[in-house]
Amino acid sequence: MRAIIWTKYGPPDVLELRDVEKPAPKDDQILIRICATTVTAGDCEMRSLKFPIYLSLIMRLWRGLLKPKEGSILGTELAGEIEAVGKDVKRFKVGDQVFGAAGMNLGANAEYICLPEDPGEMEGGVAIKPADLSYAEAAAVPFGGRDALHFLRKGNIRSGQKILINGAGGSIGTFGIQLAKHFGAEVTAVDSAAKLDMLRSLGADHVIDYTQQDFTRNGQTYDLIFEVVGKSSVSRGIRSLNRNGTYLMANPRLLQMARGAWAAARSSKKIIFQTANGTIKDLIFLRELVEAGKLTPVIDRCYPLEQTAQAHRYVETGEKKGNVAITVSGA
Ligand SMILES: NC(=O)c1ccc[n+]([C@@H]2O[C@H](COP(=O)([O-])OP(=O)(O)OC[C@H]3O[C@@H](n4cnc5c(N)ncnc54)[C@H](OP(=O)(O)O)[C@@H]3O)[C@@H](O)[C@H]2O)c1
Repeated sequence: MRAIIWTKYGPPDVLELRDVEKPAPKDDQILIRICATTVTAGDCEMRSLKFPIYLSLIMRLWRGLLKPKEGSILGTELAGEIEAVGKDVKRFKVGDQVFGAAGMNLGANAEYICLPEDPGEMEGGVAIKPADLSYAEAAAVPFGGRDALHFLRKGNIRSGQKILINGAGGSIGTFGIQLAKHFGAEVTAVDSAAKLDMLRSLGADHVIDYTQQDFTRNGQTYDLIFEVVGKSSVSRGIRSLNRNGTYLMANPRLLQMARGAWAAARSSKKIIFQTANGTIKDLIFLRELVEAGKLTPVIDRCYPLEQTAQAHRYVETGEKKGNVAITVSGA
């Protein structure tokens, strides 16, 4: 099968299209013919190990100290069709159209992948794909959709609350806006000027161009602040919360966590920073919202598998609106 092999930690050129052995499912696994996958900001960070130093060390211990282990394939999200099932698999059959995430082992930027039917504690898992979505659209749901859902639930989002989402125009944020509206919140979305119309079209009640206005200095306050990109001042962000408000951090640096925890400890406010985990139940919840017309994945561009390195280059420009998909076969 064709796959994008991750040969080194570095720029997009380290990704090479190669022919590798097609995997065969174990008894508890399904073999998926991948029709579409994605390139996320997280994939680019992973490829280049552009992480805070402590995280980069952990990643090296996991993926390979000096370079990724032989035959490593990047990619988390996927949508496709089940081509074979192991003898113990109960929930799926050959021909099912599914969407989901590869989990900690990655490997979705390829023509085939084997995944356990039940991923257990590992983030990942697949479910039947939303009926009306293309494979490219369906592939964009699991990561951004589940991460946004995870943090909004952690913030205990409720109808009538005011939420601000910083970095709202990317994978997590575009789902975050729509989910927050679904939960009945009033949404302020912050991103760069070129993305503001899209943010309004997704339901944002108010938008802020971060290059023109700093939301932590404009005097407005919120019940929830969802800091997706980790680029605003945490201490001032906490001061922009209403009494008992919650500050959610999807992408915190060590110093930000320390500052945030210190500022929150001296107030009635709460700060939550953690790694999101996503369950199969969440995928089903998101599918139902998609099928009810309440959630639409935003696809900016689609690239064929062989142009995955180009897709990484585009994602790294920061211009991406929503998601970038990779079409593999039959998408
Ligand atoms: N905690 C977790 O479990 C978890 C899980 C997954 C991902 N993450 C991390 O969360 C981060 C966001 O993920 P994503 O996939 O949503 O990224 P993304 O698709 O790249 O979206 C980020 C958005 O933020 C905007 N932005 C950049 N600088 C900004 C600033 N100073 N103020 C406001 N907006 C700004 C970008 O637009 P412009 O470039 O046009 O400004 C872009 O639209 C990534 O770093 C990812 O690794 C965390």
